Amino acid sequence: MAKKSVWTDNRFWRRSATWVTGVASVLLIWLTFDTMEQISMGTDADLKNGVTKRVPAPTVINYKVDYVFDSKRGHEVPKIGPEKEKFFGKFWSEEEAAELLHKGKLASQAKNCMDCHTLLGNGAYYAPDLTKAWLDPAWQENGPMQAMTGKSTKEEAMAEFLQHPDQYPTHERMMPDLGITKQEAVALVAFLKHMASIDTNGFPRNFGRMQGAVHGK
Ligand code: HEC
Repeated sequence: MAKKSVWTDNRFWRRSATWVTGVASVLLIWLTFDTMEQISMGTDADLKNGVTKRVPAPTVINYKVDYVFDSKRGHEVPKIGPEKEKFFGKFWSEEEAAELLHKGKLASQAKNCMDCHTLLGNGAYYAPDLTKAWLDPAWQENGPMQAMTGKSTKEEAMAEFLQHPDQYPTHERMMPDLGITKQEAVALVAFLKHMASIDTNGFPRNFGRMQGAVHGK
């Protein structure tokens, strides 16, 4: 009998399939655990001890959140603290911050911000990407939004804008009045500040201070 080629040998293919399935399963299990570790939220103690987590604790709202260019990684990465700053006039406890953030998330879903904006890669591009909106220079101390809203902090200016966006039109498209209450606005701004502190591997692109505003101007 002539020697059969390995390529037409059923046993060869059966074994290969078993191996590929086995290796892929192990890889997937490992990746699942690795991802869980990466996306798990940090704690207040991490923040206090300068431990960097991709997703920091809700109490990150008590810190100054900025971005610095990381030349090794080739993009900007969040810089949290060490300076603390009050958020709406106070420092928030772990429980308070977590509750506020939760309310902000619910409000963002109830008002469907994603219908127009993009958050962490999900949503629409009708309006500016909100992932790093907290860092938009327009809201800074010498930016136009504090002057326009008559508020003296970033968070207050943002909260005022969210409650009455139609009163503060820029030359961009106008955001409609969504009937956002004061409480919801405060929670939404916390949600936005926390989101800006998440390490998103430099996404969205072009939000950095070097390029200008989040608006992508
Ligand atoms: C119907 C579309 C629409 C919805 C829904 C919407 N927005 Fe907007 N939003 C806009 C538009 C358009 C702008 C740009 C306004 C401008 O620049 O004058 C904007 C601007 C903003 C800005 C300023 C962005 C920056 O980078 O400075 C923030 C913050 C914001 N929206 C938050 C929200 C939040 C939070 C929600 C959900 C509660 C929301 N928006 C829902 C249309 C929308």
